[in-house]
Amino acid sequence: MKFSELLYNQLYTWFEYNKRVLPWRETDDPYKIWVSEIILQQTRVEQGLPYFMRFVDRFPTLLSLAQAKEDEVLRYWQGLGYYSRARNMYKAAQQLVSHGYATFAHTFDEIRALPGIGDYTAGAISAFAYNQPYPALDGNVYRVLARLTDCEIPFDTSAGKRHFHQVANEILDRNNPRLFDSALMEFGALYCVPSSPDCVNCPLQTWCQAYAHNTVNLLPVRKPRPKIRDRYFNYTIYLTPDRQTLIHQRQEKDIWHHLWEFPLVETDADTFQRQSSGVVFTHILSHQRLHARFTLQPVTTLPDIPQTKVVHISDIDDFALSRLTLKAMEYFEL
Ligand code: ADE
Ligand code: SF4
Repeated sequence: MKFSELLYNQLYTWFEYNKRVLPWRETDDPYKIWVSEIILQQTRVEQGLPYFMRFVDRFPTLLSLAQAKEDEVLRYWQGLGYYSRARNMYKAAQQLVSHGYATFAHTFDEIRALPGIGDYTAGAISAFAYNQPYPALDGNVYRVLARLTDCEIPFDTSAGKRHFHQVANEILDRNNPRLFDSALMEFGALYCVPSSPDCVNCPLQTWCQAYAHNTVNLLPVRKPRPKIRDRYFNYTIYLTPDRQTLIHQRQEKDIWHHLWEFPLVETDADTFQRQSSGVVFTHILSHQRLHARFTLQPVTTLPDIPQTKVVHISDIDDFALSRLTLKAMEYFEL
């Protein structure tokens, strides 16, 4: 497929009038664009925006990020989830600095080789920061492409990715990759939305195969979802009269690697349901549903539990905590 000049013009005019003002669009600093793309990998713009502002305020350059402590970087990520994004970013910053880079990697291949960066993010950074001719296919762009071409290949499979990448490469505006990628992404995010977009008034309607075939609401197609695993977590919040408590840092190759939480016993569903004390939260991760019971346990002296650390409850903010732990602390007003 090829895009005509007229289609580009329609898309760019729509973009000019409708785009959101976003801080990472007002800069060509590759470091800041990188930070924004990592945040936006699994986070919506509205949720990610305040995190982006705080993050680049505290870590304004590659060097400042590389020189920070991992725990502090994770604290600025607290609440965003998918912490491996922050750990990889930190690792990448250290790699780049140790190889003598002052601002950021310069070419697609160098960017693609960094930890935590796939084709999408490498393409987005190359186009947004360096105006290089790479497509940037996020979920919004996959949807627009699947609809424009009325294509039923699941976009979240390797075959689907390959297919849509090829389509995106064909239609890319090589005279202005930055504008093209931004406009297509924004068009997907704001106009060609997942359910019932306003096709009747759509500026791209003339070219849209899904509109012509009345398949808009069936597209894009995804592969069947993996089953969600249920897990049962029993947390105890020990609390002494002078407000000392125990926390431990997760080590296992499991969720929340390196984050801190209260002492935990994982059980099966039956054991979990036999308890009656405490408060229960259900916490959804991408492939797991956590049933977490928190029990506040007043004690005169803290029990001796291996691999835990004694902290005053008011100092607990110095540690990177999971969102679930924060939820429980809020509940108990700790
Ligand atoms: N999602 C991913 N990257 C984005 C960007 N640069 N602007 C808006 N939304 C995005
Ligand atoms: Fe999307 Fe509808 Fe426009 Fe096609 S006509 S691009 S489905 S909004």
